[in-house]
Amino acid sequence: MTGVARVGIVGCGVISRNYATGAAGFDSFEIVACADVDGASAAKLGEEFGLEVLSVDELLASDVDVVLNLTPPFAHAEVILRALRAGKHVYTEKTLTTTLGEAYEVVAEADRLGLRLGSAPDTFLSGAFTTARTLIDDGAIGEPRLAVASFLGAGPDAWHPNADIFYRPGAGPLLDMGPYYLTAIAALCGPYVRVAGRADVLRADRSIGSGPREGERFEVHVPTHVGATVELASGALAQLTTSFELAEGYIAELAIHGTEGSLELPDPNTFGGPLRIRGPRGEWEDVPVAGRGDRDTRGIGLDDMLRSLAAGCGHRASGRLALHVMETASAIVRSSDEGRSVDLETTIDAVEPLAA
Ligand SMILES: NC(=O)c1ccc[n+]([C@@H]2O[C@H](COP(=O)([O-])OP(=O)(O)OC[C@H]3O[C@@H](n4cnc5c(N)ncnc54)[C@H](O)[C@@H]3O)[C@@H](O)[C@H]2O)c1
Repeated sequence: MTGVARVGIVGCGVISRNYATGAAGFDSFEIVACADVDGASAAKLGEEFGLEVLSVDELLASDVDVVLNLTPPFAHAEVILRALRAGKHVYTEKTLTTTLGEAYEVVAEADRLGLRLGSAPDTFLSGAFTTARTLIDDGAIGEPRLAVASFLGAGPDAWHPNADIFYRPGAGPLLDMGPYYLTAIAALCGPYVRVAGRADVLRADRSIGSGPREGERFEVHVPTHVGATVELASGALAQLTTSFELAEGYIAELAIHGTEGSLELPDPNTFGGPLRIRGPRGEWEDVPVAGRGDRDTRGIGLDDMLRSLAAGCGHRASGRLALHVMETASAIVRSSDEGRSVDLETTIDAVEPLAA
């Protein structure tokens, strides 16, 4: 592959608009085509953004270099494997796959075929998180000892017309939102080695609150409140809570506490937000963030994957990082089920910060 990569979107739903709009900020790729099992969704996206509208089979047989997989998690493994076997590099939305076995399989298949596999979340490549990483590397909070991460919400029951999809295997608060936090902490502080978790369903009686299916009750197949202590290879601990059990509202918190101070980070589900530091004097201060302008958006992980491919080096939002996060999340639930700590098999090399 030489020059600007030709990208084809598979899965033309809500998040495809973010990628199609954000693509203007990157010169390593151009989105040229789109496909969806629902032809009307593909036609609509194609018309909005001037993309060639194809069937999934046609897109995989076309001359696109990269498949951008924006299907729901339950379709990820199938789409990734088909795209790789069609000779395409793949960048996928989170969560990598719905099961750990599939996550191992897609990473191994990309390796076997010598193709790139990248995965969201890529918010840790934002200007704010890169500034945070630079502060940590410069010793601004001493040695990181504790990461505290909380995502608490009511679940999408009230607003999402198909809210039941968030309560199926591969989703729930841990796999839908947890990857933002687990990925950010691993990128800032390094890999995980062991987990102790507790996963519960506090409220199983749920129904769809809007749209044509309003009032329809659905079954809950995943834990709706998950707490975990995760040990890092460095010896630091991460305390993670993900929950769909609030009555209402949205709480997103991420902080790294070190031997000499603390950092309060933006919501890792976003590309901006305040960054604050508390040093030895005990006062919180806002930190100026070196933003990336219109590159602070979804797509920066794909851009980095393509630049790294051209440079012959590893990319940051990698399938291997997503696999490590998937194994960590799976081990949290296993730890809860088995009533014991679980050691992890996978690891990652330190994620080099993306230059400003
Ligand atoms: N919506 C968000 O705010 C958001 C934010 C971040 C990440 N994501 C992630 O983005 C992905 C997509 O989410 P979304 O909200 O856009 O979903 P969506 O339901 O709005 O769109 C998904 C599209 O994929 C299509 N699809 C399903 N199976 C397919 C298959 N096998 N082949 C081709 N197309 C298929 C559907 O017809 C649909 O048009 C998910 O992995 C999700 O976790 C979504």
